[in-house]
Amino acid sequence: MSATDAHPPAPDPREFRRVMGLFATGVAVVTAAVDARVHAMTANAVMSVSLDPLLVCVSVGKGARMNRFLEEAAGFALNILAEDQEALSRYFAGMWQAAEPPPYRLEPWVGGPRLEGCLASVGCARHQVVEAGDHRLFLGRVVALHRSQAPLRPLLFFAGAYHRLREPAHAARDPLEIWDPEAIRIYYGD
Ligand SMILES: Cc1cc2nc3c(=O)[nH]c(=O)nc-3n(C[C@H](O)[C@H](O)[C@H](O)COP(=O)(O)O)c2cc1C
Repeated sequence: MSATDAHPPAPDPREFRRVMGLFATGVAVVTAAVDARVHAMTANAVMSVSLDPLLVCVSVGKGARMNRFLEEAAGFALNILAEDQEALSRYFAGMWQAAEPPPYRLEPWVGGPRLEGCLASVGCARHQVVEAGDHRLFLGRVVALHRSQAPLRPLLFFAGAYHRLREPAHAARDPLEIWDPEAIRIYYGD
């Protein structure tokens, strides 16, 4: 191994974003309320973390105003956008050019406000905050769940652009029905 192999040049951050952008995600709007003030931010760095206790996580850039809200609020909500809510994704990402905001309604809810018309919402009590470079990971303990009865047509984000499912799902299945960790066997050679 040469000296160059031992210390390869640090990858370019823009290439990092392009590569990680190939991990297709849904799009969520994180909401939090502090007293009478409500703030909402588009996020796709969202994940389910633990089943016992029920935990989720959202990664928020330290430069985002949302940070201050999430630090002060007792909780937050993750609102999972439907395919017809791209305008709201742009609006809550600060990428809205028109003078009038797109129509939306935030209902007071558990953890944080619930954005109407979403596929589902997850209400959380603040559990832990982890410093992570130029972002903070906000872990929430799930205290409420809401699922829409509307057809399952999520808004997707992939390679820096919005997408839709070609074949929408018909029912929300428990992922363990198709991915059972007990059933997975790893075979090594010999
Ligand atoms: C599809 C999409 C996903 C995003 N995901 C995140 C994210 O996970 N975390 C984050 O901090 N910003 C994310 N952003 C950027 C924020 O939405 C944007 O910086 C916003 O203006 C921050 O709002 P605030 O400063 O009002 O809180 C995303 C933007 C888009 C369009």
